[in-house]
Amino acid sequence: MFLPQEIVRKKRDAQALSNEDIVGFVRGIVDGSVTEGQVAAFAMAVYFNDMSVDERVAFTLAQRDSGQVLQWRSLGLPGPVLDKHSTGGVGDLTSLLLGPMVAACGGFVPMISGRGLGHTGGTLDKLASIPGYDVAPDIGTFQRIVRETGIAIIGQTAQLAPADRRIYAIRDITATVESVAMITASILSKKLAAGLGGLAMDIKVGSGAFMPSYEKSVELARSIVDVGNGAGLKTTAVLTDMDQPLAPCAGNALEIRCAIDYLTGRARPARLHEVTLALAAHMLVLGGLADNTTDACAKLNAALDSGAAAERFARMVSALGGPGDLVEAPERHLDHAPIVIPVAAPNAGFVERIDCRALGLAVVGLGGGRRRPEDTIDYQVGLTDLVELGERVDAGQPIAIIHARDLLAAQNAIGEIQTAYSFASTGPQVPPSVYCVID
Ligand code: URA
Repeated sequence: MFLPQEIVRKKRDAQALSNEDIVGFVRGIVDGSVTEGQVAAFAMAVYFNDMSVDERVAFTLAQRDSGQVLQWRSLGLPGPVLDKHSTGGVGDLTSLLLGPMVAACGGFVPMISGRGLGHTGGTLDKLASIPGYDVAPDIGTFQRIVRETGIAIIGQTAQLAPADRRIYAIRDITATVESVAMITASILSKKLAAGLGGLAMDIKVGSGAFMPSYEKSVELARSIVDVGNGAGLKTTAVLTDMDQPLAPCAGNALEIRCAIDYLTGRARPARLHEVTLALAAHMLVLGGLADNTTDACAKLNAALDSGAAAERFARMVSALGGPGDLVEAPERHLDHAPIVIPVAAPNAGFVERIDCRALGLAVVGLGGGRRRPEDTIDYQVGLTDLVELGERVDAGQPIAIIHARDLLAAQNAIGEIQTAYSFASTGPQVPPSVYCVID
């Protein structure tokens, strides 16, 4: 007889769970025969006693199989199915860039992305700032757009990995989110359910990162690569910097403008470009579309220079209901916030430290993110012209520009941004944009 409490007991006593134990427990999570208390106790037991790679693979596959698993084979796509996932950041709009770039190089990118979480922005909220863009089409439409344009970015559906949704909600209220084993299974089960052939994983490091230290980020990267490959998904992880916003802006419609400027070549901020190329290059190599990352970067730069990547983005937006001329005329479709004011540097010096999480929270405070899941988002607000680590400023010089709905919100943000920046009399050691690759 299958008794959930016996599985909890085994993990509590630090014993290894069999594939059968894990499959039975996850099935019970979805059919309701495992109670909320049992899931919570299980999560705490895993938090303390961990899971081996074999257990993590079994846990990931059981969660993948708890719902629909997308199939691409019957569509006869002439290229590999690839995706990227990130642990989340501030001013991180790489998905909007590398999806079309990889599509222009022959990949097919069915990207299922999330809403903003805590201080981090979400690709889905950014796309929802485009008038008419449908973030929740049916799966048939999603697959058709991926086949026709090579890229579609939509939101999580209720059918993909439903076990993860229940487990995550319980982890969230029982202080058990921070388990590398459970984070790994949660992320990978959803990616495996999307039917991918290759995954580039972006693991952030720094003051705006989800993982609290460099060592923990490495541990998560190793786990995701081992479990992804163990579950049959070719996976490479790249550790990238989140000690400062990746782009010089943060906020939903503001990041869409930044993406359009990048794809059309109007402005291509250096750190954003470096991280985007690194991740996209690994996607091409994983998919066999390039022999190595040097070859991949040449192909990706060519896709940018020829306008092919911008064209893929434009086609995706219009296929999902957005304006057909968004790329040519973003001003026509993306409104500005009514209040636009600069933030003055409180003193002169080199930018020595940026509390990246605090900048993300300032965007949430302006209304650009949610305090509660049911909150609506103000798409126009956010920050632009953020100065970077190592830059020298004079006292009173702008370190950011605030885009706000009203003066009170803008005034609150000024203090938060000034506190998030620290200055020194000498230039600091600026962290690299890409730390290392784990495969
Ligand atoms: N993101 C996820 O999807 N799951 C986690 O557990 C943590 C971050």
